[in-house]
Amino acid sequence: MNGLDAKITNINVKKIREDFPILSIKVNGNDLVYLDNGATTQKPIPVIKAVENYNENYNGNPHRGAHYLGITSTEAYEGAREKVREFIGAKKCSEIIFTRNATESLNLIAYTYGINFINKGDEIVIPISEHHSNILPWQMISRAKGAVLKYMYTDKNGRLTEEEYKSKITDKTKLVSIAQMSNVLGTKYPVKEIAKYAHEKGAVVIVDGAQSAPHMKVDVCDIDVDFFVFSGHKMLSSMGIGVLYGKEELLLKMPPFLRGGDMIEYVTEQEATFAELPYKFEAGTQNVEGAVSIGAAIDYLNSIGLDKIEAYEKELTEYTLEKISEIEYVTVYGAKDTEHRGGIISFNVKDVHPHDVSTILNNYGVAIRAGHHCAQPLMKYLGIQSSSRASFYFYNTYEEIDKFIEGLRQVRKWLGYGRS
Ligand code: ALA
Repeated sequence: MNGLDAKITNINVKKIREDFPILSIKVNGNDLVYLDNGATTQKPIPVIKAVENYNENYNGNPHRGAHYLGITSTEAYEGAREKVREFIGAKKCSEIIFTRNATESLNLIAYTYGINFINKGDEIVIPISEHHSNILPWQMISRAKGAVLKYMYTDKNGRLTEEEYKSKITDKTKLVSIAQMSNVLGTKYPVKEIAKYAHEKGAVVIVDGAQSAPHMKVDVCDIDVDFFVFSGHKMLSSMGIGVLYGKEELLLKMPPFLRGGDMIEYVTEQEATFAELPYKFEAGTQNVEGAVSIGAAIDYLNSIGLDKIEAYEKELTEYTLEKISEIEYVTVYGAKDTEHRGGIISFNVKDVHPHDVSTILNNYGVAIRAGHHCAQPLMKYLGIQSSSRASFYFYNTYEEIDKFIEGLRQVRKWLGYGRS
């Protein structure tokens, strides 16, 4: 494959990479090949500059001071909220709550909706492939309320069949929570179809968009989910900023999650009433810098186009799956085609621990993740302890995939194995 050229011509990767200074660093004398985007993505200059500009020119506490910096900071924060609203197709800004990350968003739902509206004997249904962040809150609710936590199991291609989700979601189901894209298998689950079915059964549907929102166009009204969560740091933005979208009628009946400054209407010695949405769920001084960062990231993603990003990553993934399948001692988990999967490829190298794989690849400048990927129930279901994982973003190139594959071919040699 010819270096930086994308197979499809509608995304100029070479030019895009000029916006990402960190992609030019050397690691162990090699060019960095950054394939850990499922954990954290890198920041383009416009995002870095937007944060710098905020700190240099309009840092202030939002929603409070009637002075210039208080006002400009508020405008920046609320401007970012509007960008997020538009990005996911929500109807109103009151439905967009800033959190620290997707994990906090899921916990917010559990501690407010879950604690108050899930009852004894109710069923909560999630896929076996969920990130711990979408398992532990529901284990907590099940224990606290005497509800039942049920799992939907993936098939040998890492997919959830219609038969499987329809057999698990029943009249007893009160809540379904599912990632739009698995952070291990890369599977894109049919969340629109699942949400429709779950709604017919009377359940509320939460979608974890941490791995999907950065990579594909999301429209929360089209998929018609009740809650949608994602993180800034997986979509070009800073760590410490995340989003919770919730339908207004649900958010209105949920009590606050955290209590303190800014989320109140009126406080007496013994009582308090709460601010309107979304402020009811944003206690304390908020992360305006993070909001500015996610707003700038959205502008950047829109300047390229989510459809183009998704199409390019699909081609990169196809190319990688093809190349990796030529190495006979590598096992890939999940689907072997890209029909229902995104740019996340988890795999193991025969007889080599994933941490060794990752460490050896690091010698070639290649960054991948190794471990259980915060998905231990899935690891157990797959019959493994851990795996290696390569995850892509639109700034990755075919040349980088070639370097990754070449590094992978060297892994066993480092440990004294033969060529196969
Ligand atoms: N949740 C992130 C991942 O899957 C950290 O890598």
